[in-house]
Amino acid sequence: MCGIVGYIGHKKAYPILIKGLQRLEYRGYDSAGVALISEDGDLNVYKAKGKVSDLEACCEDKDISGCAGIAHTRWATHGEPNSTNAHPHYSASGRLALIHNGIIENYMTLKEKLVALGIPFKSVTDTEVLVQLIEHIMLSNELTLLEAVQVALHQVIGAYAIAILDRKHPDTIVCARQSSPLVVGLGADGDFYLASDASPIAEYTDKVAYLNDGDIAVLQPGKELKVVNIDNETQHPKVKQIDITLGQLEKGGYPFFMLKEIFEQPACLRDCMRGRINVGADRITLSAVIDYREKLINARRIIIVACGTSWHAGLIGKQLIESLCRIPVEVEYASEFRYRDPVIYPDDVVIAISQSGETADTLAAIELARRAGAFVFGICNAIGASIPRQTQTGVYIHVGPEIGVASTKAFTGQVTVLSMLALCLAHERGTIRAEHYKEMVRELTLIPAKLEKALESNEQIERLAPIFTYAKNCLYLGRGYNYPVALEGALKLKEISYIHAEGYPAAEMKHGPIALIDSEMPVFVIATRDHLYDKVISNIQEVRARGGRVTAIVTEGDTQIQKFADHIIVLPDTLECFQPIIASIPLQLLAYHIAVCKGKDVDRPRNLAKSVTVE
Ligand code: G6P
Repeated sequence: MCGIVGYIGHKKAYPILIKGLQRLEYRGYDSAGVALISEDGDLNVYKAKGKVSDLEACCEDKDISGCAGIAHTRWATHGEPNSTNAHPHYSASGRLALIHNGIIENYMTLKEKLVALGIPFKSVTDTEVLVQLIEHIMLSNELTLLEAVQVALHQVIGAYAIAILDRKHPDTIVCARQSSPLVVGLGADGDFYLASDASPIAEYTDKVAYLNDGDIAVLQPGKELKVVNIDNETQHPKVKQIDITLGQLEKGGYPFFMLKEIFEQPACLRDCMRGRINVGADRITLSAVIDYREKLINARRIIIVACGTSWHAGLIGKQLIESLCRIPVEVEYASEFRYRDPVIYPDDVVIAISQSGETADTLAAIELARRAGAFVFGICNAIGASIPRQTQTGVYIHVGPEIGVASTKAFTGQVTVLSMLALCLAHERGTIRAEHYKEMVRELTLIPAKLEKALESNEQIERLAPIFTYAKNCLYLGRGYNYPVALEGALKLKEISYIHAEGYPAAEMKHGPIALIDSEMPVFVIATRDHLYDKVISNIQEVRARGGRVTAIVTEGDTQIQKFADHIIVLPDTLECFQPIIASIPLQLLAYHIAVCKGKDVDRPRNLAKSVTVE
């Protein structure tokens, strides 16, 4: 949901800002803009509808000089995507320019007051209200920019990460955050970077400060980072070292980030398990479980809150935890949970799962759970993001930055962490036999090699993909552990190919979706060898009997299903509960290749954003 970048120092700002926007484009890509204080002291704003490349084209004949600038890539909330509604927004006098990620909830009331004072508006965005309000307060009370921002933010309700340039003070950027992420990078030459996440900063410095809610930072090259709150009390955000390599941020020869990330999964899962599973592969150690053992093993109930793909991982987590630990687990959409007045007990453990660590609904669900006295545990990927900072403890999935909008490696990383967590808790609670525990831990360490094998199906899937591009609807079926895999497979296809797809528990099909089946509708069935295998075969026959065309995902050595399926994709065998990690691979590849065949922009699907920081 919108990406923010800023730079102030001794280098040319424009190339840093454009590169930063490209790194953040996954957050929104309907329009982009940049504001620069030129060598002549002008405050220039350039904006374009479309992608960052459109902004670059628009800037070709413009003055892009200057060492101070802010830039923005937008995912529209208020006002259609066009160059007027794109950020940065000028103040009425043209002295200030502002960028914003978030939503100002009381913008209508504020706007009415400003319009009544004769202040003109150009766009229909909530953001323009901020810049007009700040300038109005600054000029009418003869305040500094920082003071005006503090007064203005007292009046604002909503979520924001903002950055402001002032033509009269070209050596300063003022930025602030409330419920939307903002990271400041501290350069070696006394220069400053700022961004919605660390990816645009990593190439220039490894020293970053993650701003906290309520922080306002003043960036002036050569001076100390100054951080205060709206009441002007000094704040001390921690400066941390980040560990992101450039290779992680680039496509490395793959046509799309999504394909790169699909193929990275064996290495990512090795990283995820490293240091947590011992060399002998018979013990899992999670520091969060050591530190909060009593709280976790005595949980009366576990509630998993998440959105999108992370919610699907939660459904697998439920089955793992219930079967291994015998603790009841509920899985909730964070967006529903937060508004549902749910029953939460102080001895509940709430697990928040989020790749980005910034999803607004998941953050709100965490807040609700904490207020009710529950213990909150996070499973996140983005280091230092809001969710890991607002949970009492947690586990990072350590799969590296995920840039493709359709989540792949984060999903398998989340399921791997949930597997380790379930095994750890079961061991501590004594609900698993020692031998079984060891066997499962050993098997988990073999998963990366099995993923490598599963990825060998890529060429077969690439050849199959054109057959499905005509489809208007697809059905994904699975049972038990493979039911969430079916949901996730369908979501991947919808997200990037725009083909409607439904995931369904295979046996439920006869209560509705079976009416849709005909020879036009591809049906993908996850039919790996597990305790429901025979039942899934019956479900496949029900599809076949109605002329449906079946593509089955099967375990190696399967000789039965090929009699009933039009196509089969073969996967290595593993324990039933780890099958979702492996079975996700062909479904990710299918969605990818179908979307590529249809000529879609796989990494930037329409209307979607990677990090949903608005509710
Ligand atoms: C967006 C993304 C999905 C993601 C979901 C939850 O919809 O496009 O890929 O699963 O948000 O995001 P989170 O960062 O909380 O896992």
